[in-house]
Amino acid sequence: MAHLSLGILISGRGSNMAALIEACTDPAYPARVAVVIANVADAPGLDKARAAGIDTVVVDHKAYDSRDAFEAALDSALKAARVDLVCLAGFMRLLNADFVKRWRDRIVNIHPSLLPAYKGLDTHARVLEDGVRVTGCTVHFVRPEMDHGPIVIQAAVPVLPDDTVGRLAARVLHQEHRVFVEAVRLIASGRVRVSGDKVLIEGSAPETAVLVNPQIA
Ligand code: GRF
Repeated sequence: MAHLSLGILISGRGSNMAALIEACTDPAYPARVAVVIANVADAPGLDKARAAGIDTVVVDHKAYDSRDAFEAALDSALKAARVDLVCLAGFMRLLNADFVKRWRDRIVNIHPSLLPAYKGLDTHARVLEDGVRVTGCTVHFVRPEMDHGPIVIQAAVPVLPDDTVGRLAARVLHQEHRVFVEAVRLIASGRVRVSGDKVLIEGSAPETAVLVNPQIA
């Protein structure tokens, strides 16, 4: 089986990266991690990747005069590793339109909210502040506008009465790991087609269970 070759971009902890690395250890999973690239030299995720025997590259944005120069270096590292699909997994730099265009429909991001709600940072704090009952996470193809682009998969997570940012983030993160692995599986199996602003998925059963929070007795 030909595997899709992943380039995972991280800035920190790398738990989503670790979920993808773990999924790729299954011979039946249709993707392999070619390289993990961090823009932060001491990103904890780098050690996890190295421990799993994955090639790592540091492209430190602070070492470049401009965003264009930084992104040219990123692009070279991805090409050198023969990456097919770029996975932004907690990558905390905005990418220029040029870079995004070059990787159009070959770059996905994981975001901890049900987009298009709660773009940007501190999603869980804002969700709690607003008293929202259901939040979640989204994997989407990247477009130049931040946290925007055709949606591949989402998971809905209920907000509980005693939630703190930490507790809610942990439950959402658990779902992030599941949906990121599934999104890459769908893309790598050739079942995902981007049509305009939407994603069409071949042969997936839709989830029909309704989540009502709080429960109706
Ligand atoms: C995740 O919540 C992801 O959705 C967001 O940044 C966080 C990264 O976590 N973009 P990790 O580095 O994958 O553990």
